[in-house]
Amino acid sequence: MSSPLLEFKNVDVHYGPIQALKSVSLHIDQGETVSLIGANGAGKSTLLMSIFGQPRASGGQILYQGTDITGKSAHYVASNGIAQSPEGRRVFPDMSVEENLLMGTIPIGMGHADEDIQRMFELFPRLKERRNQRAMTMSGGEQQMLAIARALMSRPKLLLLDEPSLGLAPIVVKQIFATLRELAQTGMTIFLVEQNANHALKLSDRAYVMVTGEIRLTGTGAELLGNEEVRNAYLGGH
Ligand SMILES: Nc1ncnc2c1ncn2[C@@H]1O[C@H](COP(=O)(O)OP(=O)(O)OP(=O)(O)O)[C@@H](O)[C@H]1O
Ligand SMILES: [Mg+2]
Repeated sequence: MSSPLLEFKNVDVHYGPIQALKSVSLHIDQGETVSLIGANGAGKSTLLMSIFGQPRASGGQILYQGTDITGKSAHYVASNGIAQSPEGRRVFPDMSVEENLLMGTIPIGMGHADEDIQRMFELFPRLKERRNQRAMTMSGGEQQMLAIARALMSRPKLLLLDEPSLGLAPIVVKQIFATLRELAQTGMTIFLVEQNANHALKLSDRAYVMVTGEIRLTGTGAELLGNEEVRNAYLGGH
């Protein structure tokens, strides 16, 4: 049996005296869409960032393609095929859409840049209309699309997304999730952190529920959508 693309084995993370991740174990297989859901402060962003060694795990192991990457530099991780669209989008505000996309090629170089920019414009037609616009003047939804497209410019094997729906109108959230579904269907492996459990679970093959730094539940997207605890805590009880 081949090893998972990404695996956490009993990973701990501390911020000073505070333990933000408590013996977290999870895995993501090649081609899967997996989500991590949980309330504010559960440790979701900490978990994603720990893949890049920032913060560094204080215990346990993070394996990528079977290799221990615990404590490797962010540069090492990015140049080996993991890309992230960070929480709060964080595009380069003074740069145009195209310039932001070019920044995404840093881990792999500019060899495929023209071709990949065209691919991003097909995936997100709105970005094509706005190609010369400065990122800071775009709407929240457009900036989110740009943050995802920029991550894809490094041709990642694993795409990490931290709350792509945060603060966006329902119609824009729908568009973004439709595009993520398209991406998943092309075989992209996606690890998605979301508070929007409804959308995330519908998209995902599997999911993990995190409560105060620990994995509380895991199952298929469909199983967790039907789980009473999940419904009460994250789906408004409906
Ligand atoms: N740089 C930091 N220094 C100290 N504590 C931190 C730091 N970053 C996060 N924490 C703490 O770690 C815990 C987990 O935070 P984290 O941002 O990972 O949660 P989250 O699940 O992403 O929350 P949200 O849904 O609000 O984004 C919180 O208690 C938070 O206060
Ligand atoms: Mg977060």
